[in-house]
Amino acid sequence: MAEELVLSTGSKKEKYLELIPQIKAIIEGEKNLIANLANIAAALKQQFDFFWVGFYLVDQTELVLGPFQGPIACTRIKKGKGVCGSSWEKEEIIIVPDVDAFPGHIACSSLSKSEIVLPLYQSNALIGVLDVDSDQYNSFDETDALYLSEILSLLH
Ligand code: SME
Repeated sequence: MAEELVLSTGSKKEKYLELIPQIKAIIEGEKNLIANLANIAAALKQQFDFFWVGFYLVDQTELVLGPFQGPIACTRIKKGKGVCGSSWEKEEIIIVPDVDAFPGHIACSSLSKSEIVLPLYQSNALIGVLDVDSDQYNSFDETDALYLSEILSLLH
């Protein structure tokens, strides 16, 4: 495994394209899910300096906080609640350009302005979500949805 990430200074797409093979190299050969989620959160934080990036994992009727990078966060989110709980319930990627305009958004931090949440699957079962928060409005688009999905697909 590479000991250091090579960071890109290019466009968002170039950053993802250079990061994805490195994430693949880091997680292949390691079966432990938590270790892999922790390194994915760290790699995304290092490359993009997102305000908050991390995972919530399904725990019966709730999501519980998993590996993340950034300020401390809410520990439990009920199914259907907030952006994370909605992404889980609907099993879809949700892009929120302005968190104040999303009904039921859970503000773990008032500094978070926009957000993307993607379902995380293993063996065809939804096991959690990836949540990425920005302190700027309109930070996330289809490019993030595409390449973050590709990163999560490495865990299938
Ligand atoms: N904003 C999320 C909660 C998680 S924190 O942002 C880290 C939501 O509405 O589900």
